[in-house]
Amino acid sequence: MASREKIEQAVKQLPPLLQKDVDDKLCVCNEVSKATIIGCIVDGADSVEAVRQCCYATDGNGCCTRQVERLIECLT
Ligand code: FES
Repeated sequence: MASREKIEQAVKQLPPLLQKDVDDKLCVCNEVSKATIIGCIVDGADSVEAVRQCCYATDGNGCCTRQVERLIECLT
């Protein structure tokens, strides 16, 4: 799992709007925080499917898929 330091470095690469609420749940269906999702992307998850396998985000009814895609676009 990516260190907090690596996650914070990645957050700084995001557009300002996406830098907010890092510790809030981005995937509310599975209670996965934005920080956890970013950690998976930092660790090499470069697709929605890979993020899903890493932390179960998007594995509810998929309502956060677009937000996860956006994080992947910004960080890979
Ligand atoms: S919020 Fe992530 S699948 Fe619903």
